[in-house]
Amino acid sequence: MKIGFLHSLIRPEEKLLIKEFQARRGIGLEMIDDRRISYNLGKDKFDFNAVIERCINHSRALHALRLFESAGIRSVNSSKVAAICGDKILTSIHLEEHNVPQPEVRVAFTEESTLQAIEEMGYPVVLKPAVGSWGRLLSKINDRDAAETILEHKVTLGSYHHSIFYIQKYVEKNGRDIRSFVIGDECIAAIYRRSTHWITNTARGGVAENCPLTDELKDLSVRAAKAVGGGVVAIDVFESERGLLVNEVNYTMEFRNSIETTGVDIPRLIVDYVLQVAAGERGG
Ligand SMILES: Nc1ncnc2c1ncn2[C@@H]1O[C@H](COP(=O)(O)OP(=O)(O)O)[C@@H](O)[C@H]1O
Ligand SMILES: [Mg+2]
Repeated sequence: MKIGFLHSLIRPEEKLLIKEFQARRGIGLEMIDDRRISYNLGKDKFDFNAVIERCINHSRALHALRLFESAGIRSVNSSKVAAICGDKILTSIHLEEHNVPQPEVRVAFTEESTLQAIEEMGYPVVLKPAVGSWGRLLSKINDRDAAETILEHKVTLGSYHHSIFYIQKYVEKNGRDIRSFVIGDECIAAIYRRSTHWITNTARGGVAENCPLTDELKDLSVRAAKAVGGGVVAIDVFESERGLLVNEVNYTMEFRNSIETTGVDIPRLIVDYVLQVAAGERGG
């Protein structure tokens, strides 16, 4: 059995996954650098049984996965999951369609319609780029003055992508949110991300702590994963007055801060899953 390992820079997660693949008997690993590969549509013949995607750039990951799929190669995750999770608007649509609770979300396309939507929602709100990660370019807007300023700046200085406005009601989360990990049908672990800043991403200084897996958290996490198509995903969850809410779903998940924190061997479980997909025992 052979696995294609699609990557850009090798980060700690990739190192851990490579080590885990190498420890498995009878498994070949072919490294595929997304800065070197080119595709020859209709003529590509790949000799691996499945691809694990670990790119840094969403657009590259999405297109590479779709190209592999077209050449008959299964992948973790599927291009469909990448397309949905890479776009917060599509993620919210799928969560809504599957009755998974999330913060109030509105979407608008102009400065005026966005300002009106924000005024209707009430402050504070959070404005996010539909495609983005690591807590970058998020704006917490506390009043109308800030809303007007941010919208004007985005429309004047931003690219077209900054004028697709994803607006979420701000959720008071008392200094932490939850990041849960789902592989296939199972929620395998979760951490709290604690921060004095309202943005709790560990990439922005949030500190990881083990979070006990309650039935409610496991159930919500698996439902969120299924809503976006399943696979290997990490779910951002807020504890709100309305109960747990799903903020977003991540498809090339980072887990370097979560193995020792939770005591769960996340790379081992990911590799198990990829091998099942490669063997045709799972959909991918
Ligand atoms: N609506 C919100 N209410 C409260 N905090 C939020 C809200 N949206 C985002 N945050 C904070 O910002 C972090 C990053 O937001 P997120 O939507 O996950 O974007 P990214 O894709 O950059 O991780 C969240 O983990 C959370 O700490
Ligand atoms: Mg996030």
